[in-house]
Amino acid sequence: MLDINNVRKDFPFLRSGRIYLDSTATSLTPEPVLRKVLEYYHEYRANVGRGIYNAAQAATFAYENARAEVAKLINAKPNEVIFVRNATEAINLIANGLKFQEGEKIVTTILEHHSNYIVWLRLKNAKKVGLSIVKSDKEGLLSPSDFISHIDRRTRLVAVTQTSNVLGVRPPVKDIVKLAHEEGSFVLVDGAQSVPHAKVDVKELDCDFLAFSGHKMCGPTGVGALYIKEDLQELVEPLCIGGGSIEDVGIEYYRLRSGPGKYEAGTPPIAEAIGMGAAAVYLMNVGMGNIEEHERKLTKRMLQGLANINGIVVYGPRDAEKRAGIVSFNLKGMNPHDVAVALDTASGVMVRSGHHCALPLHKHVLNAPNGTVRASVYLYNNNEDVDVFLETLEEISKTLA
Ligand SMILES: Cc1ncc(COP(=O)(O)O)c(C=O)c1O
Repeated sequence: MLDINNVRKDFPFLRSGRIYLDSTATSLTPEPVLRKVLEYYHEYRANVGRGIYNAAQAATFAYENARAEVAKLINAKPNEVIFVRNATEAINLIANGLKFQEGEKIVTTILEHHSNYIVWLRLKNAKKVGLSIVKSDKEGLLSPSDFISHIDRRTRLVAVTQTSNVLGVRPPVKDIVKLAHEEGSFVLVDGAQSVPHAKVDVKELDCDFLAFSGHKMCGPTGVGALYIKEDLQELVEPLCIGGGSIEDVGIEYYRLRSGPGKYEAGTPPIAEAIGMGAAAVYLMNVGMGNIEEHERKLTKRMLQGLANINGIVVYGPRDAEKRAGIVSFNLKGMNPHDVAVALDTASGVMVRSGHHCALPLHKHVLNAPNGTVRASVYLYNNNEDVDVFLETLEEISKTLA
């Protein structure tokens, strides 16, 4: 079980008494991660993979150690983890680096964040590849059979989220990978909302690529990771090339390195990557199972409370077992942005409002073109956070009666 009082002490942002329910957008950062970032600046502030002096060696060691910790978090090998800026860059790297032929097809879903959607639209327009969108039911639920008619021999890639950033629903990724592999296609999993909140095991999933961000998993901003299965790395070209990514260069030629170095041209986000490694350690110490269980209890409390407030419409399944700790809703008669401002003004409760970078889902599944209010929980939220949120929302709803 997660020791919530101890966990909360690690997060300086919470000392203000504010109630942070927007971890889906970005998470808070605990002291051990902040300390690790500062350690780099204080003690071995040098470039990585270059210098031979002591501090440079220490920086390289810390950077590579961070890669190993992030790899451990998802059960990958260190050389399968590439540091990038964020999940968006990781997805773009695959869109640009995996060469597509005219007539091939990409399959994605209506649930996706724009970062895992418009990249495929652009590719479709530029390269004349096909794009097939799998539609969910009204609650955002998808079953393996929904994918069968979309995935065929022409499919080069299936790009699917493991957790919706709006509804918290979790498409059956393991079954989708199986179906896709049977047809000879690759699978890119958008793990931006799953890796921070639950045990994700790339070996068990057998996915080919996995994208996620450091800033959503208690790490710093400016760093993310892309998992590429070891034997597929020769099929994926880097987005950028330059210093640090070469094995040899002559006047008329260059040869790229193999492994992560091939994709990490230029000076990487060193402090940020070291911080992301520390965040992986922090999460593993708390225990991904404990985090998942803690969030499920809070989500259940939130869903039960919302059901008792007049005028609230909750999107997605009402059953906390069927979703992660992300709950989007509307209050009838009030714009979602006004609800968010009212929650903040009345009680310092921070929630997101708008379309959450998922317009196709809002327009075509939720029928909420003006957006929704989204409250999301993480390991540092407690029952009181949820209760204050619910009480304030009830007060707001009464002003509309
Ligand atoms: C499901 C999902 N995918 C991708 C992203 C993009 O992440 P980032 O902005 O860190 O690149 C997000 C961000 O909210 C997300 O929720």
